[in-house]
This record gives sequence, C-alpha cells and structure tokens, in this order.
Amino acid sequence: MSKALVVGASGGIGQALVQALHVTGHQVATLSRSMDGLDVTDEASIAACMSTLQGPFDTVFIATGALEIGEHLPEKALRAVTSEGLLAQFQTNAMGPILVLKHLVPHLAKDTPARIGILSARVGSIGDNGMGGWYSYRTAKAALNQLIHTAAIELARSHKQTVLAALHPGTVATAFTAKFAGSHATVPPAEAAQNLTAVLAGLTPAQSGGFYDYAGHSIEW
Ligand SMILES: NC(=O)c1ccc[n+]([C@@H]2O[C@H](COP(=O)([O-])OP(=O)(O)OC[C@H]3O[C@@H](n4cnc5c(N)ncnc54)[C@H](OP(=O)(O)O)[C@@H]3O)[C@@H](O)[C@H]2O)c1
Repeated sequence: MSKALVVGASGGIGQALVQALHVTGHQVATLSRSMDGLDVTDEASIAACMSTLQGPFDTVFIATGALEIGEHLPEKALRAVTSEGLLAQFQTNAMGPILVLKHLVPHLAKDTPARIGILSARVGSIGDNGMGGWYSYRTAKAALNQLIHTAAIELARSHKQTVLAALHPGTVATAFTAKFAGSHATVPPAEAAQNLTAVLAGLTPAQSGGFYDYAGHSIEW
C-alpha cells in the first residue's frame, strides 16, 4: 500500500488531507503539535518526531503554519512591524517547513516516485502583491518559496523521481481564516484537500520546485 505522511495533521487543512489520502487508498502517518508534540520552531522536536516514522513515503504534505502567532497579528501598516513578529513568522512559516523537509529526506526512496507538497500562500507572491499589509506572513511565505525552490534543485540530483512543490490551498474555512477572511469567499477544508491531492498527484519531476495554486496553475514568484 502507498504510504503518505501529513505533518500538521491537526489543522483544518491537515485533517482534511488525511481523510482525502485515505480515500485515495493511502496508509497515512500523521504528525502534529497537539497530538505528538511536534514544534516546527524547535529542530530537536522535529528530529525526534520524524525519527519515529516508518517510510518510505510516496506522498507528503507539510500543512503547518500560522497567521497569528501569540500576540503577533498580521500587520495592517508599517508601524505595526516588529523584529519579534518577523522572527516568529520566519520560525513558523519559513524555517519550520524546511527543517521538516531536511528530516524527511531519509524517509524518501531514491529510485521510486515521491511527491511532497508544502503549504505556502498566494500572499507570499511578490508579483501578485497588489494590496500590501501582512508584512511578516507574506515575507515568511516568500522565503519559504525560495527555500522550497532551492531544495527542489538539490533533490532533483539525488532523488530524480521526487517532486517538491509550494502549494496555495485557496481561502479555506479553517481556524486560520476565521478572524481574517472577512468578505473573502472560502471553500470547505474537504474541497481544498481534494484539490491539493489532485494537483500534487498530477505534478511531474519537471515541475518540481514550482509554486502552484489549488487548480494546478503556476503562481508568479
Ligand atoms: N486556510 C487558508 O485559507 C489558507 C490560505 C493560504 C495558505 N494557508 C496555509 O495552509 C497551512 C494550513 O492552514 P490551516 O488553514 O489548516 O490552518 P490551521 O487550521 O490553523 O492549522 C494550522 C496547523 O499548523 C500547526 N502549527 C502551527 N504552529 C506550529 C508549530 N510551531 N509547530 C507545529 N505545528 C504548528 C497547527 O498545529 P496544532 O493545531 O496541533 O497546534 C495546525 O496543525 C498554513 O501553512 C497556511 O499558511 C491556509
């Protein structure tokens, strides 16, 4: 049976991804902060949690992330930007997923296909940023995209059949968006998960390192 892994399986999208992967016939391993003590801001915690896994995995989603971290809210204006807020966003949304990927590599087969989707966000696109605001979250996701793109180049040398992609899930009705979606239309997590699993399954190694939305369209950096 195909083995999948969802990191951040307690989240709104993470939970739905677990369900969607069960439906597509995967045996699904899960990791999360609330269920397993995985803290992506602490590499020792990542190493300990990842060492418990039994791979190799052919499908992996890293679905951790946060918009509001402690007292740090998404900034509406430059005067709200702080080094602490920027650092918290970098630790959670940029450094966290790439350190998970670092500890995932031993669980990937070198000679069989594997697909890894890391949840980014369209607001991390510099070219698509017409509204401003949300300085630290946008910037952390832009940094995450560069980290993913760079890692994909390296993995293409050692794991030729592996696909690594930054994925935008759409605006999804989860705890994450509850306070911030405003008048934006949202989709249910189950729909987002179906979209994301279909997009990831359809990507080829030639598309590794890209940034794709829930419909499979490339997003500009
Ligand atoms: N929802 C949207 O509309 C939307 C749009 C664009 C991008 N995204 C991205 O999609 C991803 C998932 O979002 P979601 O809507 O599912 O959010 P969510 O329901 O709030 O879930 C967030 C997940 O991240 C985990 N997490 C947060 N900080 C962590 C940390 N320091 N260490 C380990 N785990 C941590 C949470 O773990 P616990 O709950 O176990 O603590 C939870 O599993 C995020 O990367 C987000 O940026 C979401």
